[in-house]
Amino acid sequence: MDKAVEAGRGPSKTVEAISWTPSGGVRLLDQTRLPQEEAYVEVRSIDGMVEAIGALRVRGAPLIGIAAAMGLTAAAADAVRRDAFEPQWMQDGVRRLAAARPTAVNLTWALERVARAAKDAFDHGDDPSTVVEALRAEANDIWREEVERCRTIGEAGAPLLPKGARILTHCNTGALAAAGIGTALGIVRVAHERDRSIHVTSCETRPLNQGARLTTWELVRDGIPCRAIVDSAAAWLMARGEIDVVLVGADRVAANGDVANKIGTYALAVAARQHGIPFYVAIPCSTIDMDVAGGAEIPIEVRSGGEILTAPGAEAHNPAFDVTPAELVTAIVTDRGVIEAPYDLSLRRLFD
Ligand code: MRU
Repeated sequence: MDKAVEAGRGPSKTVEAISWTPSGGVRLLDQTRLPQEEAYVEVRSIDGMVEAIGALRVRGAPLIGIAAAMGLTAAAADAVRRDAFEPQWMQDGVRRLAAARPTAVNLTWALERVARAAKDAFDHGDDPSTVVEALRAEANDIWREEVERCRTIGEAGAPLLPKGARILTHCNTGALAAAGIGTALGIVRVAHERDRSIHVTSCETRPLNQGARLTTWELVRDGIPCRAIVDSAAAWLMARGEIDVVLVGADRVAANGDVANKIGTYALAVAARQHGIPFYVAIPCSTIDMDVAGGAEIPIEVRSGGEILTAPGAEAHNPAFDVTPAELVTAIVTDRGVIEAPYDLSLRRLFD
């Protein structure tokens, strides 16, 4: 990891979820094997990265954008060696990577950036190896910027948490999801650094247990007090007065402020409203999609029913994300500041 990326990583023994191998491949911490095993996979092809993203070996909206950009670069270097690297190869690679998961806009956002860098280099008449270097530089820029954005989100969001706050979070929004210190978990980390005496309750997050497996793993490593609950316990804990704040990330925020995030987020927002608990969403600006007017237009990934344990022969329906209407969101913490309703206006202002 280069020095600038390193600088944004926080005090924690932060996990290296992604890195380059010495020979230019992409090294991923295989998140499907955590917390039992810290095992790594090396990816250097489009197929390999599509598989890793689809299987959630690498996951979380910002991190799959970074991984796709780095994977495209590694595969392009390989295509140069085989004398197969040309604009059509690039377009196919971008198309296949973008289709690996539909909901997180960070994936297409990062791929559009690297594709543009490659096109500029091709148009400039650069030789294939130089085009690959342009791809690598852009992928590294995206990675460094996302790390920096997480730190800024953490700094902006920590003051929202009262001292002693009991925070409910969902899924995993930390170093395993975003590089750097994470988005919602970045806020948690900064608050912990400043001794806000916080405590985190992590929803298990069905069906793949990202909260119970991954969020608690990160928090325990950092010495941040936490516990896991099953998703269906959340509303009850709110009713008992055990939660002060709900703090989540997102995979895509529409131009009107509707928030697509891990399935179960909407239920948390409804319960939070019922109990008068603030519901905060933490995102880098790369998660905002101003081309999508509202949540109804956000593509929602439906995963295999096989991820849900059923009786043999029983059907399972497995939507992986849901949409929380903007009206349930107390504030959105971004790397350009904290914004509130009306979100159509406050989001637009972020890009002025
Ligand atoms: O299916 P996942 O594990 O990739 O879902 C991740 C989430 O829902 C996160 O909350 C979101 O990507 C924000 S990560 C900073």
